[in-house]
Parts: sequence; C-alpha cells; structure tokens
Amino acid sequence: MTALLETGGLSAFYGDFQALFGIDLSLEPGDCMAIIGANGAGKTTLMRAIAGTVVRRTGQVSLSQRDIGGLAADQVAALGVAMVPEGRKLFPSLNVEENLLIGATVAQKGPWALAGIYDLFPVLREKRHAPATSLSGGQQQMVAIGRALMGNPRLLLCDEISLGLAPIVIKDIYAALPKIRAAGASVIVVEQDIGQALKVADHVHCMMEGRITLSGRPADLARDAIHDAYFGTVSAGTGHAVH
Ligand SMILES: Nc1ncnc2c1ncn2[C@@H]1O[C@H](COP(=O)(O)OP(=O)(O)O)[C@@H](O)[C@H]1O
Ligand SMILES: [Mg+2]
Repeated sequence: MTALLETGGLSAFYGDFQALFGIDLSLEPGDCMAIIGANGAGKTTLMRAIAGTVVRRTGQVSLSQRDIGGLAADQVAALGVAMVPEGRKLFPSLNVEENLLIGATVAQKGPWALAGIYDLFPVLREKRHAPATSLSGGQQQMVAIGRALMGNPRLLLCDEISLGLAPIVIKDIYAALPKIRAAGASVIVVEQDIGQALKVADHVHCMMEGRITLSGRPADLARDAIHDAYFGTVSAGTGHAVH
C-alpha cells in the first residue's frame, strides 16, 4: 500500500538549535499513529515539521508520494493536512460556530460540515453561539478538533488533546476518534499519556531529545521498554528499568 505520509531523515531547527534529528516515519492510509514522549522530546516540533510551520527543516516529507517538504503551511493545509494545535488556539473573540467555520476556509471536498461536527460533539450544537472562551476545557478541545475536521483533512494531527482534562472528558474526546477514522481521515496523536496512546494507536513511536527511541505495535511493546525509551533510563540485565 502507498503510505499516506512518509518522512525521511526529517530534522528541524529553531535558529541554531536542532530539535529533530533524522526522523523516519511511515503512516498507512486509515491508520492511527501515536507519538509519545516527555515534555521537550520534540513531539510538537515533529507535527510542525509535517505541517510546514517550522522555520527550518531538512530531509523529506511526502504525502501520498508527493514531496511536501518545501511547501508553506497553507499549501500543506490545502493538500488535506489539519492540525489540532497544542493549547487549542481558539479565537477568543469568536463564538463556537465561527471558530468551526474558520476551519472550512481551506476545505477539501469530504464528509465534514457543521452538522456532522455537531453530531460528533452534541454539546457544541447547544453552545454554538457562545463565546469559545466561555466553554470548559474539554468543550474547547472539541471545538479545536471540529475546526480541524471542517477542512476535511486526509491527515489529522492532534497535539496533546488530553492534556489537563479530566479522565471522563478525555474518554468523550477519544470516543470521537473511531468516527473520525471511519469518515476517512488518518490520524497522528501526540500524547504524554502512554496508556491512552497504547489504547488508540495502531503504531506507537516514542521520542526523546529529538529522536525516535522506540517503535512498534502496542501489543508488541513491553512496558519496561517503553519506560526506558520515554525517560531515557538504562535497562538492567533483568529487563527492569533502572531508576
Ligand atoms: N519556538 C521555539 N524556539 C526555540 N526552541 C524551541 C521552540 N519550540 C520548542 N523548542 C525546543 O525544542 C525542543 C522540543 O520542543 P517540543 O517540540 O515543543 O517538545 P514536546 O512537544 O515534545 O514537548 C525543546 O527543547 C524546546 O525547548
Ligand atoms: Mg508539545
């Protein structure tokens, strides 16, 4: 099968600081990939490097075998890559519906429109005229996801969509993921919550200090190995992490 997204030797830089070192990834159409790693590992930078919002990057990024490594963020978005950014980044002066409609400005043809978003997250229909800032954190996260879906993306990049939310709210938000995938989008979720990542993803990649330290299917990854890859602890001969 042709990969939807491939990166080869992808590196990224903030000025002189190198934040990513030669990342090789491949995502099949319809798959869900999780990127896990501690704060500062480079997860957000990787999403930005794919979406074209990092100032400087080297290496390859391709979408359905088309080279997108040299494209600006708006061009990548127009090809069907949408980001749910860390911290949501809603427009505080706009109401819920206006925030959702912002996402339709780069829309592909596809299944998602306002009605579909409101069916996915019914509370947003009730609150559609409310200022985005008046919503709870979880509801704001739903708006951020809905806004990204309004563009009918082929690839949805979700950066820390569970951060700071109560477990019951996280459950609601992640319950939308199978529906989003069934409607045709492939998904990359960035998570600090390892358990959540293992639950939803077909493939998991762990990052540390700008590099991928472990990759595999959730069922094939031992907890100790994940712990080592996540925290950088050295494994003892017994297979237990050294603290
Ligand atoms: N705008 C920026 N300018 C300079 N350094 C940055 C910037 N954003 C992130 N970094 C640095 O890049 C590294 C990776 O950050 P980030 O991708 O945000 O990690 P994560 O999302 O895994 O927490 C960190 O060392 C961070 O301090
Ligand atoms: Mg981040």
